[in-house]
Amino acid sequence: MIKSVSCGALVIIIAVFYYRWQSTVTTTANLTLIEKNVIFAWDKHIKFPSSSFQRLSVGVNSNLDIIVDGVKLLKKLGISPGKQKNHDIIDNLEELQETFSYFFDKGSAAERIFSEPSIYKQITNAAKTLPGVEYYIGGNAALMATKASVLFPDVEIQFVGPIGPKLAQMMPKSINIPKNSHISEDELHLIMEYKVGQSWGDSTAPVATRFITSYDESNSKVTMLERYFEDLKDFQPDLALISGLHLLDGETQEFFTKRIDSFISGLRSIPRTVPVHLELASMANKEFVKNILNKVLPEITSLGLNEQELVFSAYAAGGPHGEDYENHNGQPIIHRVADIMSWLLTTYGYSKNNPNSRLTRIHFHSLTYHIAGVHPDVWGNVESATMAGARVAGLQACDVTQLDPNIIDLHIPLKYNLFSGDIERSFNSSHPLHRWKLNGHEFVFSPVLVCKKPLKTVGLGDAISATGLMYSKFTFPVS
Ligand SMILES: *[C@@H]1O[C@H](CO)[C@@H](O)[C@H](O)[C@H]1NC(C)=O
Repeated sequence: MIKSVSCGALVIIIAVFYYRWQSTVTTTANLTLIEKNVIFAWDKHIKFPSSSFQRLSVGVNSNLDIIVDGVKLLKKLGISPGKQKNHDIIDNLEELQETFSYFFDKGSAAERIFSEPSIYKQITNAAKTLPGVEYYIGGNAALMATKASVLFPDVEIQFVGPIGPKLAQMMPKSINIPKNSHISEDELHLIMEYKVGQSWGDSTAPVATRFITSYDESNSKVTMLERYFEDLKDFQPDLALISGLHLLDGETQEFFTKRIDSFISGLRSIPRTVPVHLELASMANKEFVKNILNKVLPEITSLGLNEQELVFSAYAAGGPHGEDYENHNGQPIIHRVADIMSWLLTTYGYSKNNPNSRLTRIHFHSLTYHIAGVHPDVWGNVESATMAGARVAGLQACDVTQLDPNIIDLHIPLKYNLFSGDIERSFNSSHPLHRWKLNGHEFVFSPVLVCKKPLKTVGLGDAISATGLMYSKFTFPVS
């Protein structure tokens, strides 16, 4: 009797284990199948346009990045976990801890400026002594130039930005850097990276990302701006790629306005047949962002940005879902992102009613998906361009040349709406793309296959934006 009871119990235990084992196996297999399908669809459908850009003029921010483990650096500096508080500008070590903790807890990437060069030097000196410290080419513009030169070796690239001695050695030799770009000392930026699940105080990082700080005269004052436009005139590019305006965030309103006015007059000197792409990055000043939207957006052809910048734009200028800036954590909601993009294109973009605006394209990139929104008369090959941008995100984060379904994951919900008022859609891994038209614009959605163990998260947005443009076809609208 006792024997049969224990035997029965054993059977149940084995059955339970078997069931658990089997369900894990099936789930893993199904998930891998989804990723496999997406990779297959991308490789099958991504095509170069019939004509692509050949001469890129890229500027205006560059620096030397010093990359460390953020938590280890804080410990090295003798800082303990404390309050979480967002500071727009960082004045001391305590504010560094508070702002780092604030973004660490949310798992969102952020970039902040230091006000004190001596304290910043103390921090970067500590960073240099950490084991495993690494140096990389930094600055969105320098990264866009570098990525484009590696991914598209046949394209001629001119780069204008502050280039110190160490950075000059690191830049690819194929990139043309005019003499007036060289400066005597490298501008250092500190990248405090953290991994998913890492802890600081009571917080656990929900995703792997980074917190960036800098004290950087050349880039914060955008000293290379005028030289960029001068050098561009001689080079005669067919695409201009610009980044670095976000570094004006810590300047006074008066200085900011002056630099923006100079930027706009430079943009106006570029023929309208040459598209100009502006890559935004994290900013904290609401008034500045509002100014960029109102004054700069109509002067550029294409805009690249992530969820933080997109939602902050809506918040700063009264667009839809602006409240998400303060209320929403985690993955951005697809239809809300598309609503904001549609609002930006309608409010600031080129149309029959607004023929003076140049803006015809927005490329949104988040960790888990991308959306491109374009004026369909101007931009073609949008599906391939969006998928190519999504594919390069996984490739670059995992640092591989071919995606493998075991090293990446799909993170988007399997049911979603594409815009407010849309019907519910289901994700189809064999056709991992949506294309729709709304208010005269064409939108393309693509999921990202997120690298499970990312090796490098810096410069992802820049690789995505450069790739998206290189796979796009631009036709100047004839009106
Ligand atoms: C998914 O996409 C594939 C390829 O386009 C198509 O053949 C299939 O019918 C789609 N499945 C559903 C459920 O829509």
